[in-house]
Order: sequence, then structure tokens, then C-alpha cells
Amino acid sequence: MSDTSTAPPLDLDGLRAQVPALGEGIAFFDGPGGTQVPAPVADAVGAMLGSAVSNRHGPHHASRRAEEAVAAARHAVADLVGGVPEGVVLGPSMTHLTYVMAGALAKGWGEGDEVVLTRLDHDANVRPWVQAAARAGASVRWVDVDPATGELVEPLAAVTDRTRLVAVTGASNALGTRPDVAAITAAGDAVGATSYVDGVHLTPHAPVDVAELGADLYALSMYKLMGPHMAAVVADPVLLEGLQPDKLVPASDEVPLRFEHGTPPFELMPGATAAVDLLAGLVPGAPDDDRRTRVVRSAAALEASEERVFARLLDGLTGTDAVTVVGAPARRTPTVSFRVAGASPRETSRWLGSRGVAVSDGDYYARELVEVLGLRASGGMVRAGVAPYTSDDDVDRLLAAVAEVADGARA
Ligand SMILES: Cc1ncc(COP(=O)(O)O)c(C=O)c1O
Repeated sequence: MSDTSTAPPLDLDGLRAQVPALGEGIAFFDGPGGTQVPAPVADAVGAMLGSAVSNRHGPHHASRRAEEAVAAARHAVADLVGGVPEGVVLGPSMTHLTYVMAGALAKGWGEGDEVVLTRLDHDANVRPWVQAAARAGASVRWVDVDPATGELVEPLAAVTDRTRLVAVTGASNALGTRPDVAAITAAGDAVGATSYVDGVHLTPHAPVDVAELGADLYALSMYKLMGPHMAAVVADPVLLEGLQPDKLVPASDEVPLRFEHGTPPFELMPGATAAVDLLAGLVPGAPDDDRRTRVVRSAAALEASEERVFARLLDGLTGTDAVTVVGAPARRTPTVSFRVAGASPRETSRWLGSRGVAVSDGDYYARELVEVLGLRASGGMVRAGVAPYTSDDDVDRLLAAVAEVADGARA
């Protein structure tokens, strides 16, 4: 998608200095589960909480402040992935928004219709569709995963002229696999199906353009990219106009408000905007560049920086006796899952935690994948993900702690 070789270098030390949580001495590799937050993001949330803020639609400035914060957050998310603010639906989590979208889309499904899902996806891009399809009488066609590589197996073959929806991840939160999303959405488009792309794990690691991906609806979560705990679905407003989610009678029927249940967390909105602004400013640009241009340039620089740190991590893990790295995707985010012989994933992550190294273990909600891999009963895997602020020193700490597990020091 991007030529990272030409990206200007990222000031990693400068970024790290902006993240107060790093002062607590932990090497964070649990970014795929949620990143640490830079001070400008926390400050933006705090400033909103410390200001006069009332609910929307009031005739005074405290109400206008809430409205402006929501509008600014929509604009920021649109710039992040190449959408338009009028097509940005905001919500508490990607899971919540996917249930809302599945409920709305499935109103048009019936017997004989099919939805295409993958066994690579996080359960948030699986179960809402399985349950909506079951209610509508539609059936599911599964795209399998090759356990050796972690790649999807013939995803285009699952699309038929009965397909109504294709749901696919931009990147696996477990193995980092980046499927050929554009080819999959194009296959869906060719039969008139809607595509729903889970960009939660992709967006933090690469420049994203929803049009290039061919995503009709694109979901992301701000807390995976140094922002607050809120999420968005980005779509063409015309597509959103054609959908009718369940909603309260007095609540607005306008798009995108129609999809947003209840009073939003106004204080988090400036945090989301600050996270996008921070990302946009990671590398210098021309003074008159717009934010979208700066986001794309910075995301390319970030991708290159993370790839370099990740190469050290992956080399170290594959070079450690007793470590088995799961999957070998051709194109990936800087995320890896592994197991250490002689220790369960939970035992490994506990030991690493005792050494100040934060990783995740289990299935991280990639439930179908862990079943395919046959690892569920034995505790799944250990996951290490590189975040924007991950340093070589962090990697060396992780590798040293893993070597201790491998050497049996844990016992
Ligand atoms: C790839 C992926 N999709 C979806 C989700 C769910 O996101 P949320 O926590 O915003 O519901 C996650 C969270 O870990 C994820 O990693």
C-alpha cells in the first residue's frame, strides 16, 4: 500500500518522552490489546472534563462545545483513513458498532442468502454476523486459515452470487497476517455484496485508505492507536442512508447520528482528535500540508520504524531454542504469537510480567483461529506486538525473559 523506504525517520526517543506510562519501567508488547497514551491525548481528555460541557442541542456555548468536539473527532477519524466526516459513526467499541451494523444490514437478509466470514478474524468481526445471519435465516460460508502460514485459504472461492456480506480483517490481531483485502472486497463487490473490514489491528500499523481497500464499512478502535477507549465505523454516507438500525424514537434519524446510541463520551472526543493530530505530526512535513497528507506520511514512517524493531524481535524469537513461532504470513503487521516448550502460555506471560515485560496470552478473542491451530485446550499462544513507542531495548528485555523461560529458570 505504501513505499515505506522513502519515509522520513521517526523520532522514537521524542515519542517515548511523550508517553508518561513508559516512566513506570514496563516494556509494553500488549499494544494489540491496547496502547499506552501520550500526554497530549490525556491532556485533551482532561481539559474537556475541566471545561463547561453540556449535552448537545442546548442554546449555549457549553452545549456547542460538546457538538464541536464530536464534529472534530469525526473529522480526525476521516483524515485517519481517508473517509468523510459525514460517514464516520462513533461508538464505545468496535464490538458494539459491529453489532449495530450487523443488526441493520441483516434486516435485508433472508433464506438462501450467505455471509462470508474468516477463521482468521477477531470474534468481534465473526459472532455479530453469525448471530445476525442465524436470525435472518441466512447461512455462513467460512474462509479457512492455513495453520502453517497463517494465511487465508482461497478467500475468493467463498464468494457466490448469493453472498450479501463479506467480513474480513485488515490484519490478524494474533498473527499479524495482512490478507489481500482489496481482492476480497472486489470479489464481494462483483456480486453486489457489502464488505465490512475490521481495521482495528491494521490502522495502528500502516497508512490506510478505505477506498483503496474497497471497504464499504471500515471499523477501527482509537485505543489501539494511542487514543482513548472509543471506536468508529467509516462508510460512504449514502450507504449509511440506506440502513435502518434499531434506535430510540426521539433520537436523531440523521446519518451518522442514527447509528449512535445514547449520549456519547464527550470528554473522549478531543482525545481521539489529539491522537490523530499526534500521529499526523510524527514526522515533519511542509507547513501547508493538510492533516490527511501528514497522517499518510507519518503512518508510512511509523510502519518502517515498527518493521525495523519487529525484525529484531522476530529474529530473536526464531533464534531461541524451545520457541515455536506460530504462522509465517507473507505480509504482516509487527505482531507475533509464539509458544515456549515446557511452559504454558499463561506461565510464560506471567514470567515475562514478573520481569516487567507486558505480553498477552490465550486466544485474544481470535477464537476460530486458535481452534484451527488446535491450541485452545493448551492455553493458546503468547502474543508480542510492537507499538509506536517500542524500542530495541524493550525487545532485548523481552528476548532475555523468554530465554529464561526456555532455559527453565522459571522452575
Ligand atoms: C482485530 C480486532 N478486532 C476487533 C477488536 C474489538 O475491538 P473493541 O475492543 O473496540 O470492541 C479487537 C480488540 O482487541 C481487535 O484486535
